[in-house]
Amino acid sequence: MSNDQSLIFHGTLAAQNLTEENVYSGKLERARLDVDFLRGRLMLRHRPRLLDLGTGTGTIINEVIASAAEVTCVEKFPAFSQHIKIGEKVRIITENIRDFNSKNSYDLISCFGVLHYFTREEVTKIYHRLFEMTELGGEIIVKNQFGVHEDVSVSGYSEKLGTDYFANYRSVDSEMKLLEEVGFQQVIKHDIYPEAFNQWDNTHYYGLTALR
Ligand SMILES: C[S@@+](CC[C@H](N)C(=O)[O-])C[C@H]1O[C@@H](n2cnc3c(N)ncnc32)[C@H](O)[C@@H]1O
Repeated sequence: MSNDQSLIFHGTLAAQNLTEENVYSGKLERARLDVDFLRGRLMLRHRPRLLDLGTGTGTIINEVIASAAEVTCVEKFPAFSQHIKIGEKVRIITENIRDFNSKNSYDLISCFGVLHYFTREEVTKIYHRLFEMTELGGEIIVKNQFGVHEDVSVSGYSEKLGTDYFANYRSVDSEMKLLEEVGFQQVIKHDIYPEAFNQWDNTHYYGLTALR
C-alpha cells in the first residue's frame, strides 16, 4: 500500500463532491481544536510564512489566515481546494505532495491529517525536502493518529465510497526519531484532544512540533 491508494480514495471523494465532514465522524470537533493549536503556534511568531500540506477544503487553514503573513497550500484535488478562502495572502498549489519542492522557505510548515497516508519510505523523502524548506529556527507541525506502541496499518474497503482506503499510523516514538534523523530538533509531542476523541487503544492523535 502506498499514497497512491489514498489518492484513489480522496479522488473518489472529490469526484462525488463529498468532503471529509461527510465521511469521518467527529471531524469538525477535532478541527476546532486543530485551529486553536495551529493558531497558537503561529501567534508565537512575527508575520510567519505558513506552508500547509494536504489542505483539503481549508477547514483548518481558512480559520488561521489572519494569523499568518502568507499562506501556501498544497492540495492535489481542486474539488477540495476550491473551498479554501482565496485572498492576497493565500496561494494554492495543485500538486502531489510527493513531488512538491520549493526554493522558498517557511517559518511554519503544517501537515494536519495527511502524512499517515504515506508509507515510512515516502514520508522520509518528504521530511528531508521539508527540512530544506524550513527557515532556520522555523517549525514543522505534524498532526495525525500515531501507533501507541508500534506501527498500525489500516486498509480495507469502504462500502460507502466503493473504494479501498489505507492509513499508516507509524508509532509516535518512531516518527519523533525520524524527525530527529532528518535534522529537526526539540521534537515535542502535544496531546491536543480530550481523551474521548481517541477512540482506539492502539492509536492516539498527537500534534508533533519540531524546530530546524
Ligand atoms: C484527511 S484530509 C486533511 C485535510 C486538512 N489538512 C484537515 O486536516 O482538515 C487529507 C488531504 O490530503 C490530501 N492528500 C493526500 N495525499 C496527497 C498527496 N499525495 N498530494 C496532495 N494532497 C494529498 C487529500 O486530497 C486530502 O484533501
